[in-house]
Amino acid sequence: MQILKTPEQVYAFVWGLRRQGASVGVVPTMGALHAGHLSLVNASQQYCDHSVATIFVNPTQFAPGEDLDKYPRTLEADLEGLAASGAAAVFLPEPQVIYPPGYSTAVLPPDVARCLEGQYRPEHFQGVATIVLKLFHLIPATHAFFGQKDYQQLRVIESMVRDLNVPIEIIGCPIVRDPDGLAMSSRNRYLNPSERSRALRLSQALDRAESQLATGETDPRIIEQQMRSVLDGGDSHQGVDSIDYATVVDWRSLQPVDKISGAVVALIAAHVGSTRLIDNRLWPRTT
Ligand code: PAJ
Repeated sequence: MQILKTPEQVYAFVWGLRRQGASVGVVPTMGALHAGHLSLVNASQQYCDHSVATIFVNPTQFAPGEDLDKYPRTLEADLEGLAASGAAAVFLPEPQVIYPPGYSTAVLPPDVARCLEGQYRPEHFQGVATIVLKLFHLIPATHAFFGQKDYQQLRVIESMVRDLNVPIEIIGCPIVRDPDGLAMSSRNRYLNPSERSRALRLSQALDRAESQLATGETDPRIIEQQMRSVLDGGDSHQGVDSIDYATVVDWRSLQPVDKISGAVVALIAAHVGSTRLIDNRLWPRTT
């Protein structure tokens, strides 16, 4: 696997493959890789002739006071995992290359960025959209792979690519979970054992939402109440510490619906200890 550090190297590498007629998948990440990230590389390997991963902890998508400084960095293990998954190259840019001194341009994210995460992390999607567009410029891939774990992020990137005519196909991939249901996340490393067991409330609340949808419940408020009661954990003190949102919205616009009649997505953001976790479930399931 090639380790590429400069824009010139990665552009030349990927363009060299494209010139031969090959398809190339790009998998953007912030490192601290787990099986969820590697599933994107595997998907890319299935879809495309070659895969290129990127590792860059993007400072502009973290607000002051968020976990930028303590974000886990596990480069050696990341490189091993990527090589074992068959990635042809990994791009590891230096921050000053991505954000040169005096840098002041950014992407105005699409409307779908405003709700949910946008309410709680107002600058977040501007940082995400900007870094992802930069990576798409530096890496002339045919396809890009993103996880449904960050469901709103996937919708934001799809809208950005459409609105700005970016010549790349976005592929969304299913959420990879631990055997007990916890959605894999680099931030799960922050959880101590008792927090980890309380973190299971998120996937349990989504199970509850899914079973209600399966029995024909069409009132999103009832499903939201049920999700909140699972998240709270009753009197057991085994619930999450606080809920940012637990909601059922239109799968595409992420806007509220009065009555559930088509595809929806249940989304949760909640705090356990000092860790903020997100999870979601599409209905009907696509996988
Ligand atoms: P990061 O959190 O490292 O995630 C990189 C990719 O892995 C994202 O597409 C994310 O949705 C996917 N992913 C994470 N956990 C997953 C899981 N359990 N199952 C499936 N996919 C999973 O998302 C980012 O980085 C950044 O915002 C980035 C897009 C790289 C821009 O900086």
